[in-house]
Amino acid sequence: MKNKDFLSILDLSDGEVEGIISKAASIKQGSTPQILSGKTVALVFEKPSLRTRVSFEVGVKQMGGTCIFLSNSEIGLGVREPEADVAKVLDRLVDCVVARVFSHRSLEILAEHTSIPVVNALSDQAHPCQALGDCLTIFERKGSLEGLKVAFVGDGNNIAGSLALACSSAGMDFTIASPQNYKLPESIWNQATAEAEKRGTNLRWTQEPKDAVFEADVVYTDVWVSMGDEEEKEERLSVFSSYQVNEQLVKFAKDDFLFMHDMPAHRGEEISEGMLEHPNSVVYHQSENRLHAQKAVLAELFGY
Ligand code: NVA
Repeated sequence: MKNKDFLSILDLSDGEVEGIISKAASIKQGSTPQILSGKTVALVFEKPSLRTRVSFEVGVKQMGGTCIFLSNSEIGLGVREPEADVAKVLDRLVDCVVARVFSHRSLEILAEHTSIPVVNALSDQAHPCQALGDCLTIFERKGSLEGLKVAFVGDGNNIAGSLALACSSAGMDFTIASPQNYKLPESIWNQATAEAEKRGTNLRWTQEPKDAVFEADVVYTDVWVSMGDEEEKEERLSVFSSYQVNEQLVKFAKDDFLFMHDMPAHRGEEISEGMLEHPNSVVYHQSENRLHAQKAVLAELFGY
């Protein structure tokens, strides 16, 4: 870990994606280190959550610690009081902050005004814990990461951005198929390009889902309307209508491709009915692996 916080895949040093994956795999197979014994983790969540909240609460408990869940209505981050004030108070009372926020900037402010680790549990820009759980899932199913081809079909959102960075850092080729106006943000694209150049992997954008999915080892998609984008719902459903991942599209992938989705999933929108239950789907393994990957992140942050 380059700093005290984990806000982005870029907070990991070279080779650390693979390092965390192997730590997560060994935690999953062996016993959980009790490194949070006597420690308290504040979960500050501005947006709803199932997988992230449950996997953090369970993970912290298994590591010997305690969680306090603080919803938006309690804290009112930046509204009831400024983020910096919240940060300085939590810094005195707890040992770690795990935060899910609308604006990535809120996470940076929390990190700047604390001496304890701050972990990104999803922002408008990034979902690095999801990307690590996903890499663990790919590693378990494929035996290695190096040289695999990952295709992401849909919105160039927080999930796509963190996955692009994780794949590029860990030696996988990454292609995103998205409409022209929903590409990865330029800053993320540039960061992922730099990682891909370091590892000698391929990073590509195409407008054509079939082109991305052709011979892919992994086909990944996410919702077209993320939390916070609700006002654009109608427009997005129309722009993305030809980006659905369905039985026809996945025929272009390798026979043993993995179908992945971070969930929640919307049948009839980004996936057709039946895709979550497809024989190649590993979506529930992804959900479980959030737990193991996050325990590895916490172990890393607490110096285990
Ligand atoms: N892109 C989605 C991911 C949900 C886990 C969102 O931000 O709403």
